[in-house]
Amino acid sequence: MTIEIRPESTNQFREVEALVREAFWNVYTPGCTEHYLLHVMRRSPNFVCELSLVVLEDKAIVGQIAFTRAWIACDDGQNRQVLTLGPLSVHPAHQRKGIGKSLIDRACAKACDMGFAAVLLCGDPLYYARAGFEPAQKHGVRTQDDQFMDALQIRALAIEMLSACAGRYFVDPIFDVDEAAAQRFDQEFEAKIKIQGTAS
Ligand SMILES: CC(C)(COP(=O)(O)OP(=O)(O)OC[C@H]1O[C@@H](n2cnc3c(N)ncnc32)[C@H](O)[C@@H]1OP(=O)(O)O)[C@@H](O)C(=O)NCCC(=O)NCCS
Repeated sequence: MTIEIRPESTNQFREVEALVREAFWNVYTPGCTEHYLLHVMRRSPNFVCELSLVVLEDKAIVGQIAFTRAWIACDDGQNRQVLTLGPLSVHPAHQRKGIGKSLIDRACAKACDMGFAAVLLCGDPLYYARAGFEPAQKHGVRTQDDQFMDALQIRALAIEMLSACAGRYFVDPIFDVDEAAAQRFDQEFEAKIKIQGTAS
């Protein structure tokens, strides 16, 4: 199957946010805030617009991926710039067709060409191991508050990065989502029912 991946354009912003909402809704929490996260992320100086990609099928957007710059304060005293992956969304009706993995691979190849050394994220290791990620702990990468975390994973784009990345990983402050602002933003979209006690 050929997957049509394109850079996101400004006139697609709201359609992409609606897709993110559709993909994340009731998956990790009742409702979701990832569409708001993407909305504020685009205004951050750390947002990497060149790596914001969408997947089109019959002119509709069915997948998206976005990245922000982040840093590892390395144990050797250096600050190394890396990328944070997310959000990554595939419309529920189009999942399990390889769209998510294709988006990750295409964006990582572009990030490598742009000179980025590694991509990190917090996500399900079972999914991301299939997309080239390894536990960050294996390479000594810890959270900002100096903890190892099972969900924290890394994909090196420059192989030398793995022997030099031990340290504390800092993400853009926009990841501290303002829940009240996210709820207000959500009211701009079609009403949806929130389910309490979702599996994940
Ligand atoms: C996660 C997501 C982006 C995957 O997109 P996708 O296009 O379905 O992924 P792919 O087709 O590349 O890979 C699908 C495979 O990964 C598996 N997979 C998907 N999510 C998984 C998860 N959380 N844990 C383990 N495996 C997972 C599927 O079972 C499938 O494997 P199979 O075909 O052998 O059954 C999509 O499910 C999604 O948008 N989910 C909601 C939002 C989300 O969780 N985003 C990621 C946040 S970190």
